[in-house]
Amino acid sequence: MADVVVVGSGIAGLFVATRCARAGLSTLVVTKKNLSDSSTNWAQGGIAAAMSNTDYDAHIADTIEAGCGLSDPRIVEMVIREASDRIEDLIASGVQFDTNEDGFDLAMEGGHSSRRILHSKDATGAEIERALIVEARASPNLELLEDHMAVDLILADKNAEIKRISGIWVLTPTGEVRTISAQAIIIAAGGAGHIYRQTTNPSVATGDGIAMAHRAGAKVRDLEFVQFHPTALALYGERPFLISEALRGHGAILMTSENMVELKNGGGEPAQYSFMLHHDPRGSLATRDIVARAADQVMKKTGENCVWLVTSHLDSQEIQERFPTIQSRLKTHGLTLGIDALPVAPAAHYMVGGISVDENGLAKQCPACSNEVQYPGLYSIGEVACTGLHGANRLASNSLLEAVVFSHRCAEHVIANVTAGEGEMSLPEWRADGLSSLVEHAPLKSDRIALQSTMTDDVGLVKRNARLQRAQRRLDFLREEVDRIWRGSLPTREVIELRNMIHVSRLVTSAAINRKENIGLHHNLDCD
Ligand code: SIN
Repeated sequence: MADVVVVGSGIAGLFVATRCARAGLSTLVVTKKNLSDSSTNWAQGGIAAAMSNTDYDAHIADTIEAGCGLSDPRIVEMVIREASDRIEDLIASGVQFDTNEDGFDLAMEGGHSSRRILHSKDATGAEIERALIVEARASPNLELLEDHMAVDLILADKNAEIKRISGIWVLTPTGEVRTISAQAIIIAAGGAGHIYRQTTNPSVATGDGIAMAHRAGAKVRDLEFVQFHPTALALYGERPFLISEALRGHGAILMTSENMVELKNGGGEPAQYSFMLHHDPRGSLATRDIVARAADQVMKKTGENCVWLVTSHLDSQEIQERFPTIQSRLKTHGLTLGIDALPVAPAAHYMVGGISVDENGLAKQCPACSNEVQYPGLYSIGEVACTGLHGANRLASNSLLEAVVFSHRCAEHVIANVTAGEGEMSLPEWRADGLSSLVEHAPLKSDRIALQSTMTDDVGLVKRNARLQRAQRRLDFLREEVDRIWRGSLPTREVIELRNMIHVSRLVTSAAINRKENIGLHHNLDCD
């Protein structure tokens, strides 16, 4: 039994867990690999924050413009106004942001009208994760369960119309399922990039949080808005490695091979040759939806499997020092910043949609006979949540900010509503009724590959009605197959993940079918 269970150990999970524990609530963090296996740890660019009140309005306007008007203005304003206090909290937790003689060394990224990205070289997420792990490990009342995987939420009364959480089932490293009662469950389990073939996400991003919450009756929204990062390193046989947007903020330019020949022959400013100028006056620094679709379009036209990120006009030494993580990865492939053009292509990066939450991260439910209501005891923060901040497209580096603002608010709400030691003691054991029957099953790896191919080919950057329908049929078939395995086998991480990935893929596909207009990250050629 715990007062609070947090699922996930990125910025959102660790920040909220430490605060709840400090307030005297017994808190458990459940994370399916090591603590540092999180998208936060891989975030390069930084955390967007208007650090002076002269920048609030511009940051608000940029966020709403990137979100194509679908953001919730009340949430946008709240997040941006609370940013500087949460940056102070992170610094108090030991996070070191880069500074210069003027204060913070602020970087530029796509869609921002001014420099407002705090960073730690090009490994901002790793720096935040490092500091929060140190803090969490030293925290009283906080137990960290690594290699433990959340399986499903336990409801106080399965048949009640308004649902309430009473605990969670968790798969332990030895393969047993443990029943843990809790007054509050905070899902901070990150995104679902691995439903696609190419993703910048770590292997843990399989949509577990969204799937688990939706199965328990939580409301999800905006799942058609999947953000593809335009510049993932595209080298044959290698997993896509993120090339931070901050590099474009620093002057790198996107080009086709033809643009590079034109530059070689014509000379002058590289930016004037970029294909991006035909798509947006901001060129390579347009918002991600525009850049990713433009790159996809030229790749389809040229038949090449990448576009090129050109940095040869920049000071090689200086950018290598500013982007050491990227340079170190490039070096293993014989590439050098400031010299070589980098092959890049779009890859799934961020789920804008997720579990629908209020301004404190409290989840919502939508019972059949009433309008949306709160979901007592269930919270969701970080990428897995949908707060309304991002609208139809997330502005670069607004996600770490959203995570820390909502983690703080969520912690305050939990602390105000949970009384230490008052959880329910007697909960149903996992599958108390036993397995339906043990089934033999084929390797799940091929089902996972089939799922990723379906999502990439039919529910990717650019969609068509017929392909969405085809995806739905294929996913239904996969679901039947995996449900049979699920009911007839002992739970393993592989089966749990595949079940979750299919669940989330079906939600993404039906959200895409239901969205009839092209906006932000959603683009269906049949809606043009
Ligand atoms: C990047 O560094 O380009 C990623 C930052 C983000 O996703 O906001």
